[in-house]
Amino acid sequence: MSQLTGKTAVVTGGNSGIGYATAQKLKQEGATVIITGRSEEKVKKAASELGVQGIVADVINLSAIDQAVEKIKAEHQNVDILFVNAGIFAPAPLGQITEQMFDNQMGINFKGAVFTIEKFLPILNEGASIINLSSVNAYTGMPNTAIYAASKAAMNSFTRTAATELAPRKIRVNAVNPGPIYTPIFDKTGMPEEQLKGFAEAMQNRIPLKRFGQPEDVAELVSFLASDKASFITGGEYNIDGGININPLLVG
Ligand SMILES: NC(=O)c1ccc[n+]([C@@H]2O[C@H](COP(=O)([O-])OP(=O)(O)OC[C@H]3O[C@@H](n4cnc5c(N)ncnc54)[C@H](OP(=O)(O)O)[C@@H]3O)[C@@H](O)[C@H]2O)c1
Repeated sequence: MSQLTGKTAVVTGGNSGIGYATAQKLKQEGATVIITGRSEEKVKKAASELGVQGIVADVINLSAIDQAVEKIKAEHQNVDILFVNAGIFAPAPLGQITEQMFDNQMGINFKGAVFTIEKFLPILNEGASIINLSSVNAYTGMPNTAIYAASKAAMNSFTRTAATELAPRKIRVNAVNPGPIYTPIFDKTGMPEEQLKGFAEAMQNRIPLKRFGQPEDVAELVSFLASDKASFITGGEYNIDGGININPLLVG
């Protein structure tokens, strides 16, 4: 039997990148998977490719999350795995941080994550697993990422408190901190191609394993944390970053 047979999983931001690869992996492991996303067209396409259910729900819109929960409750009753993955990366240097950019990035990456969990709580089964997709940026001072990094640091702090409060229901809450992973997230920043290329090369050089991660690398870890094999793990944070967080000072 596969490790997630009989479980129902929800993946937010499941139409692309890490969410897409994870939805695929969770399905392979036997779970019934529901993906959400903000674009009807993208959600429909991904759901049909993956052979899973797709629901449009922009996490910045709390009533859209409510509606998604109602639909899932009506069709599946309860949820065992909640992968809180939807997020954006909107780099900007200090001095150019606008209120709109602050509200959007914090609104999706942190507020959206918090209220996804709040709204799904009533339909989470005892023993459910919540996995929050954070970032190694939560612990770095990388230029132009002040708000992104803060949104992820907030997520890691929230994860610890949530793990304590939900332990009586045997709900486990963990965070995953990826380093650079090849996904469309960087193209969506609007940075020119040349700049993106330079950024990727510089980043790759600093990674001890000398490569970007693949979405499938992260999907493996999430699938493990979602499973009963991880039943004694809660309130933890797992770097998956080719070693970049070691901060080796001298790179070989
Ligand atoms: N790639 C990396 O190097 C990396 C590293 C560390 C952490 N992360 C984190 O990993 C998560 C997934 O990112 P990714 O790299 O897989 O990027 P991605 O391919 O752009 O996927 C992000 C997903 O989130 C969705 N999303 C964005 N805003 C949303 C909203 N308001 N409501 C609902 N869905 C929304 C996106 O929808 P659209 O397709 O419509 O944009 C997409 O499905 C993010 O939280 C990101 O911060 C990524």
